[in-house]
Amino acid sequence: MVLIHKKILGLFLVVSCMLILAFIPDVDSPSWDNNTPVHEILFALGEKKPDHFMKKITPELIKRGEELILKGQSTSPKGKRSERISKYYQCTTCHNLVQEDPDLTSRDPEMRLDYVAKKKLPFLQATTFHGIVNRETWYNDDYVKKYGDLVRKANKSLEESIQLCATECAQGRLLEKWEMNAVVAYYWSIGFKMGELGFSEEEWKEINSIYRNEDKHQSIIDLIKSKYMLKSPATFGEVPNDKVKGYEGLEGRPDKGKLIYELSCQQCHRDEGVSWFILDNNKLTFKQLVKDIPKDKHFALYDIIRHGTYAVPGHRPYMPHYPEERMSNQQIEDLRSYIEQEAGVKTK
Ligand code: HEC
Ligand code: HEC
Repeated sequence: MVLIHKKILGLFLVVSCMLILAFIPDVDSPSWDNNTPVHEILFALGEKKPDHFMKKITPELIKRGEELILKGQSTSPKGKRSERISKYYQCTTCHNLVQEDPDLTSRDPEMRLDYVAKKKLPFLQATTFHGIVNRETWYNDDYVKKYGDLVRKANKSLEESIQLCATECAQGRLLEKWEMNAVVAYYWSIGFKMGELGFSEEEWKEINSIYRNEDKHQSIIDLIKSKYMLKSPATFGEVPNDKVKGYEGLEGRPDKGKLIYELSCQQCHRDEGVSWFILDNNKLTFKQLVKDIPKDKHFALYDIIRHGTYAVPGHRPYMPHYPEERMSNQQIEDLRSYIEQEAGVKTK
């Protein structure tokens, strides 16, 4: 009799323990995997939430944000169709939306060119929006040094960067509150996922052990952040002293130059592109480009790449320049050698 009671009691205890355990979150092994957004783990480790953090993100919000970025307009929550943000550009004229660097810890333009060529993506002046929520500063380095107060607020705030770029880069208008929410929600949807950062099995073990190792939180935060760049660096390059000689000691590679011509220049300088100025594959077009190289004009090859053009009243579309991280001196020589090859003229 006593024995049976003990058994029942034991069973009862086991069952109730199991029930209790089933309802307590399993703290020892969080269910994180390759699909987990990176920020989710950082916040769990005690990382401070950034100003652009959003508590509630719905699929509708993301959809609206995507429309604003791809088409420049969307429908407000009240059902009103918005005016286009810019008459001249889409955000994607200058920014990609997916990964564009094979190694997220580097902004090497030569590695990027090979990578985007494989993925059939454009090679553009501005940085991809993929992982933009994971960055900690925007408009960095020479953008702050050279543009000063215009970008100082944008440097510290993603939302300010969006407003700055919508008005200055895209030559458009400020976003309304609901539009800003939608764009930022969309950005969160294309933030880094753990699987994109290439952790080893050992590193995953370390990450998954965090609840047992409070004192390790900072080192795991550091480990995660070492896998991607916290900012998009920008160094404004110079034109060579002697434009005929070009950049000293660099030999152009026409096959790379062809990729730049097609994946970069022709993205905008084509029929129906954002520029009226067409860069086609006609020999005469290449000859003209070659002829302009030594000129002391904004449209000479080195100048147009390193300095771009300016928006002026009456003619808003302008060409953003390429910082060195977006096109290296070597790549400009590559482009030049391709243009000269196609023109059948060698000037260097
Ligand atoms: C004509 C080209 C162009 C267009 C169009 C454009 N941008 Fe940009 N954008 C740039 C350049 C150049 C930068 C400089 C920093 C970088 O991205 O490397 C930049 C930077 C940014 C940044 C900061 C990125 C960083 O990490 O530093 C944000 C955010 C941004 N743009 C949002 C937008 C949005 C939103 C739109 C559309 C409404 C847009 N941009 C349209 C050229 C453009
Ligand atoms: C993001 C779009 C974009 C990209 C990429 C781009 N351009 Fe431009 N470019 C423009 C715009 C816009 C203008 C201003 C002229 C206009 O209103 O169409 C311009 C102007 C120029 C001009 C001066 C035309 C003139 O006579 O005033 C040249 C030359 C030029 N680009 C060459 C290039 C080359 C070479 C590349 C590739 C390395 C390139 N562009 C990449 C948008 C772009």
